[in-house]
Amino acid sequence: MQRFEGQVAVVTGGGRGIGSGIARRLAEEGALVVISDVNGDAAGAVAAEIVTAGGSAIAIAADISQREPCCALIAEAFDQKKRIDILVNNAGINRRGNLLSLSDDEWHASFAVNLDSMFYLCRAAIPHMIEAGGGVIVNTASQWGLHPAPNHIAYNTSKAAVAAFTQNLARDYAPHKIRVNAVCPGEIHTPMLEAGGEAVGTDDRRSRQACSLRPDRKAEGGRRPVAFLASDEAAFMCGSLVEITGAQAVA
Ligand SMILES: NC(=O)c1ccc[n+]([C@@H]2O[C@H](COP(=O)([O-])OP(=O)(O)OC[C@H]3O[C@@H](n4cnc5c(N)ncnc54)[C@H](O)[C@@H]3O)[C@@H](O)[C@H]2O)c1
Repeated sequence: MQRFEGQVAVVTGGGRGIGSGIARRLAEEGALVVISDVNGDAAGAVAAEIVTAGGSAIAIAADISQREPCCALIAEAFDQKKRIDILVNNAGINRRGNLLSLSDDEWHASFAVNLDSMFYLCRAAIPHMIEAGGGVIVNTASQWGLHPAPNHIAYNTSKAAVAAFTQNLARDYAPHKIRVNAVCPGEIHTPMLEAGGEAVGTDDRRSRQACSLRPDRKAEGGRRPVAFLASDEAAFMCGSLVEITGAQAVA
């Protein structure tokens, strides 16, 4: 399938984890993928791997918690082919803790990376999409934004805001043929999840057992669902919050 032939897709947080899988998938299906990450070397390695495999990708280092790098990223991505068809707002951080244990910095960083970045990136990309007559935005929220796990108040609240942001943006820009949806993954095997297990002193045997549908939980974190949402197959999906959990309950 070459659902994205000729298209330009921007993927934030594409240097590892779920974002690198999304970038590979979009490239396999024909997109020129602009892989962005605060870790420029990691983004470069994923882009090089895609190019070696015969796909098209470039890497751009950017800290998307700040407005200027977001604007520069979209400008550089647009310059590639004078179009931005797909924006995947995937980058995120998980600062664990409750109201009393979190620092002010951890709270603000959670919102800066998880939410403010989307505000800046969408605001930079949407005028190009309007001009082109349409586009697609896929945001990464979380199952925990809808059904909070304990002791993650900053993460969960920022992801709940991502869900609301997604639905608002969808309402406002559907008339311009811009489809905005969010994926809400459950626990997926990535460095973020592994760090969480280490932080609370557990391995993830418990959640493995709880996810009987797909015990490895490697591929379903958003890669194929994001490609689906970005494609014309999802032409009537706009403002949807798509949970990807394998029926695993929040514990
Ligand atoms: N892994 C899970 O279980 C899970 C579940 C639900 C939602 N999510 C969400 O999926 C997304 C990807 O998560 P993951 O598990 O792949 O995480 P990860 O930590 O493995 O990867 C996140 C990537 O984002 C990048 N990043 C972090 N801060 C950045 C910044 N300021 N600017 C640019 N890039 C930055 C990191 O360098 C990293 O490459 C996140 O939004 C996360 O909240 C993950």
